[in-house]
Amino acid sequence: YNHDPKFPDNFLWGGSSSSWQVEGAVEEDGKTLSLMDLNTRTKKPYTDDTFASDNYHHYKEDVKLMADAGMTSYRFSISWARIYPSKDCQVNKKGLEFYNNLINELIKYNITPIVTVYHYDMPVWIDKEYDGWYGRGIIDEFDKYARTLFKEFGDRVKYWLSINEQNMQICYGDWLGIDKHPDTWLEDKWKVNHIMNLCHAKAVIACHELVPGGKIGPVPGYVPIYPYSCDPKDQIAAMNAEEMTEKIWDDLYAHRKYNGFIKSYWRENNIDPDIRPGDMELIGKANIDFFGLNCYRSNTAKYCSPDEKEEPYELNKSGKKGNLKFPKVPGMYQLVENPYVDTTDWDWEIDPVAMRYMLRYVWDHYQLPMVICENGFGEHEIVSEDGKVHDPERIKFMRDQIYQVGLAIQDGCKVFGYNPWSFLDLLSTGNGMSKRYGFVFINTTDKDKLDFKRIPKDSYYWYSDLVKSNGENW
Ligand code: BG6
Repeated sequence: YNHDPKFPDNFLWGGSSSSWQVEGAVEEDGKTLSLMDLNTRTKKPYTDDTFASDNYHHYKEDVKLMADAGMTSYRFSISWARIYPSKDCQVNKKGLEFYNNLINELIKYNITPIVTVYHYDMPVWIDKEYDGWYGRGIIDEFDKYARTLFKEFGDRVKYWLSINEQNMQICYGDWLGIDKHPDTWLEDKWKVNHIMNLCHAKAVIACHELVPGGKIGPVPGYVPIYPYSCDPKDQIAAMNAEEMTEKIWDDLYAHRKYNGFIKSYWRENNIDPDIRPGDMELIGKANIDFFGLNCYRSNTAKYCSPDEKEEPYELNKSGKKGNLKFPKVPGMYQLVENPYVDTTDWDWEIDPVAMRYMLRYVWDHYQLPMVICENGFGEHEIVSEDGKVHDPERIKFMRDQIYQVGLAIQDGCKVFGYNPWSFLDLLSTGNGMSKRYGFVFINTTDKDKLDFKRIPKDSYYWYSDLVKSNGENW
């Protein structure tokens, strides 16, 4: 293309977050703890309590900042433990009130809410009662919870997302605390995954039943995987890796059945995912309307002989264990460093082309509209002496990524929004406030609870210009 990409009218320019990462108030107004709250509390170097970005008490100010930036959408999640704090309890009115206020505030400024039903934060009581995602008892509870959200908020919220990054939760079970029984995780994970699929299906069906004009989609975490070389064996290895980390989920969501690859994998490995009568009929009814997509990075795979020893960790440049566990699967694939792309301080590949690749890939396979629900740059950041926060690397990262979104749209992909991670600084999954993603700095640290002052970073002003010009002002 010899001109800058153009974005469609009404393109949703937004920002993203999740309840436990941004709200704080973890035990306020009736809310009980989630496993992620507990995890944050017990991990060093966090302080004894969790305030996150204290969005619970600053939501008006935060929405005003979004409106001032010209944003037209905001993707956030609802905390299950705020809506249903314990077994057999009535719905928590204070919890409903908070989200009603937030949604009304967004609507006041014409900001379209895009709401995730579940973003990693398993209520502790569900975990105790049903063994979390391991027990089928969660299915009815999830259905009840999702139906409450659709009934309460469905008059104003028309875009819904079911489960955040189900694929990542299964692939990185240890990282997200979902592999509660590590010794049997390799056998359990496909059962757990099947239960999550049933919950996803329940949410999709209920949304269509209860939300007039409502649309719902899944939100997989997407890491495009390139073959290391043009050796045909590397090509197949990349396809294997893509299947095992992404495609089997996308096929399930879009085609509403397990694909041949995973069925054959289960057969070969004597795995029984415990599919019961009626399950596939339920999944068969869960017709999604669009794909929500999260994309930060890419991976590269090469052939791995069946005789190799399993190495469960990614190795970073210095040969140390990376921060994510990612299995090398003998006979299938092995992940390797890509010499063509740079990495962040956390060893995440900086690869804007992966964004275009993902959009092309998903569009080519499923022909469903897509909305980007996460994409961003995590960095250590401080307030400079001039009182501002200068984040030129984030601006470069975002500009390059958004440019590729534009190219994918010119390639013919139907993309209706971009909601980067994150609008505010918030708790990172493993690195608290040390790894900051926001357009807006939050004045607090992992060690000390400070005043939570909101300081728009340089990237906030840059993004605002871009948004107000519908992608014309780079
Ligand atoms: C996504 C998650 O996978 O990555 C977010 O949906 C998460 O919850 C984001 O915060 C960035 O990862 P991290 O580990 O840097 O917080």
